[in-house]
Amino acid sequence: MSIDILEMLKEPRLVKVCAPMVRYSKLQFRTLVRQYDCDICFTPMILADSFVQSAKARDNEFSSNEGDEPLIVQFAAKNVHDFLNAAEMVAPYCNGVDLNCGCPQRWALKEGYGADLLKKPDLVKDLIYQVRNRISNPFTVSVKIRLLKDIYKTIEFCRILEKAGVSFLTVHARTPDMRNEPIDLDSLKLVRDSVKLPLIANGDVKNLESAEKLYRESNCEGVMSAKGILTNPGLFSGHSVTPLNCVQDWLDITSTIPTQFICFHHHLVFMLEKILPKKSRMFFNNLQNKTTVLEFLKDTYGIKPNINPKLLELTKCIFNIPNTKYNMCTVKDDDDLNINFLGNIFAES
Ligand SMILES: Cc1cc2nc3c(=O)[nH]c(=O)nc-3n(C[C@H](O)[C@H](O)[C@H](O)COP(=O)(O)O)c2cc1C
Repeated sequence: MSIDILEMLKEPRLVKVCAPMVRYSKLQFRTLVRQYDCDICFTPMILADSFVQSAKARDNEFSSNEGDEPLIVQFAAKNVHDFLNAAEMVAPYCNGVDLNCGCPQRWALKEGYGADLLKKPDLVKDLIYQVRNRISNPFTVSVKIRLLKDIYKTIEFCRILEKAGVSFLTVHARTPDMRNEPIDLDSLKLVRDSVKLPLIANGDVKNLESAEKLYRESNCEGVMSAKGILTNPGLFSGHSVTPLNCVQDWLDITSTIPTQFICFHHHLVFMLEKILPKKSRMFFNNLQNKTTVLEFLKDTYGIKPNINPKLLELTKCIFNIPNTKYNMCTVKDDDDLNINFLGNIFAES
């Protein structure tokens, strides 16, 4: 994979990113949003241990093609072996790996994944450090976080990762307890001012205007959207609601790349949420098979799927099952890394 994500993030422009979304940010959706000005896509979160251990999990969780670039594969991991093995296996087929340190779901916290890792900076430092030392640039090793309630601890966490060699961070500017409240822009700005590495700001990007506003106000290098881009995949190219062309493109993509009905239908449910009147929406959302969905779209909008010969074949991934007995690099301790946790951004001048 030739694209250098870090070079992209250095460009003096808004870099537009499609979020990792379990069940949704799969190849078909990534193909769609790339046609609408999305610069970088993340896969859904994949459990690193299943990915390493099971061919079935790999087939279910990961597919790609030549056009699917730049691509970051996000893993949930809680030990170095799993993250390192998974990263090495997937490296030939993507531009970087990301560690999920933000998932607030109960199961994830209980298992020690996602936002639970925010409490374990030393472990996360080790995960990043080992992968960084095993796979060289321009391959990126990034982390997606939420804010901790204590902004000092959030900054400390980010600085530890910066010293460990993380390529960039995505900051969802909410704490794990926050749901739909507005994002905490002030805390995001403090994080921005405390680290030098590139940041992607995430939260509440609902249209191009709000993406540009967040970019300007946060001073981050990129902006990520999840729910917004799900309901309007044309968001980054300036459409205020899903354009009909985008629905057409979704039909073409999913008739060319094999797609399960539930994925095909759910995306349409999201995309049409703002453009179908309530009664038709209720009817559409309850449709149970592809034939009735296609009939509905033909009757309502006069569109039908076409095979798109330009879409590239799926990549045949041959995963090298790694030798699990790694010689780990020794992680330098904090003094060696010269971590000055809080620097002086809070010092009164
Ligand atoms: C359906 C769905 C699935 C998600 N799956 C993931 C995931 O796999 N990994 C992750 O880091 N965040 C995941 N998230 C969180 C989003 O990436 C994002 O951080 C969050 O939704 C805030 O962005 P937004 O305000 O643009 O929606 C998911 C969110 C949604 C709505």
